[in-house]
Amino acid sequence: MAARAAVLKGLGSYLPPRTVTNDELPRQLDTSDAWIRQRTGIRQRHWADPGVCTSDLAVEAGHRALKSAGIGTSDAVGMVIVATTTPDHPCPATAPDVAARLGLGPAAAFDVAAGCSGFVYALATAAAALTAGYAEHVLVIGAETFSTVLDPADRTTAVIFGDGAGAVVLRGGTCDEPGAILAVDLGSDGTGKDFASIPGGGARERSVRAEPNPDDRYLRMRGKEIFAQAVRRMAHSSATALGKVGWSVDQVDHLVGHQANLRILHALAQQLGMDKQRVVSHIQQAGNTSAASIPLALADAAAQHRFQTHDRLLLTAFGAGLTWGSAALTWPQLTPA
Ligand code: COA
Repeated sequence: MAARAAVLKGLGSYLPPRTVTNDELPRQLDTSDAWIRQRTGIRQRHWADPGVCTSDLAVEAGHRALKSAGIGTSDAVGMVIVATTTPDHPCPATAPDVAARLGLGPAAAFDVAAGCSGFVYALATAAAALTAGYAEHVLVIGAETFSTVLDPADRTTAVIFGDGAGAVVLRGGTCDEPGAILAVDLGSDGTGKDFASIPGGGARERSVRAEPNPDDRYLRMRGKEIFAQAVRRMAHSSATALGKVGWSVDQVDHLVGHQANLRILHALAQQLGMDKQRVVSHIQQAGNTSAASIPLALADAAAQHRFQTHDRLLLTAFGAGLTWGSAALTWPQLTPA
C-alpha cells in the first residue's frame, strides 16, 4: 500500500482591486518604470485600500480555496494555518480570526512567521499534521499587506512589495495520487536576521525604548546580500528536496519559486541547470507578496491551464529570518477559484 501523504485538493487566490503601476508610484521615490522592470521584472503591484488588512485578504483567498476544494461543511477542516509577516496584530494571531470568519469554528488555527518562506513552512506543517492523521483537511493561507510596512521614502523596498493572498486546501491521502506532497526541505540561519527586518513593534523594541521610533515600523532590507543568499539557499534546498523524492532536475516540469525578483528566479534556474521556460512567474503583475507569492503564482498558472495532471512541481522559497524551504509535489486535477 502506498505511503500516506498530504494531497492538494483546492486552490484560491485574492488580490485587492487597486493596482499601482510603476509609473503610478509616488514621485518622491526617484525611480523609473525602466529601472524597476529591468532590475526586478515588476510592472505593477496591488495595494490594499486603507482599512483593509491581512485577515481580510486571507478570508477571501481561503473562501475561494474551500470552494475550489468543494468543501461546504465546517467540520471537515481541522486546522487553519496563516503564513504571514504582516499579521493584523502582534497578538492574537491572525488565523483564529480568519477561521472564525470562514465558519471553520473550533478548528486549530495559528500563524506561521517565516518571512517569504512562510507558505512552504506552513505547507510542510500541514502535510505533517495530515500524515499523522490529525485532521481530514487543512487550510493553508499565505496572506500579506506589505504596503502597511513600506517606508514611502525608501525606493529599495517600496517599489518591490505588493499585497495579496493565496490559499490551498490539503487532504489526507497517499503518495501515488496526483497532488501529493512528496518531499519537503526546510532550513534557517538566524545569524542573517538583520538582512530583512521590521525592527519595531516587538518585545526587543519595548524593552529598550519608552516610546516607539516611528521609522522602526518599516521593513528594512539589504537587497544585494539577500539576492545572493536567496539564489544559493533556494538552489541548495531545491536539490535537497529533489534528492529526497528521487527526481532529477530534468524531470521537474515547473519551478515555482518565491516571487521576489525575476532575476533571482532566472539565476536560480540557471544554477539548477533548468531552462527558463519551466520557471513560473507572476511577479510582473503582483510584485513580491512574500508568503502569498507561491500560492498566487500557482493560482495564476493554473488559471492559464499551464499545469497538467501528474506534472511534477518544485516549490522553493527564501525569506527573512533567514529562512528557506522547498517542496516537491505532483499536480492534481483541480480548478482554482
Ligand atoms: N529605482 C532606481 N534606482 C534604484 C532603486 C529604484 N527603485 N533601488 C535602488 N536603486 C539604485 C541604488 O541606489 C544603486 O545606485 P548607486 O549605484 O548609485 O548606488 C543602484 O540602483 C544599484 O543598486 P543595487 O542595490 O545594487 O540594485 P540591485 O540590482 O541589487 O536591485 C533589489 C535591488 C532590491 C531589487 C535586488 O537587490 C533584490 O531584488 N534583492 C532581493 C530582495 C528580496 O528578495 N527580498 C525579499 C525579502 S527577504
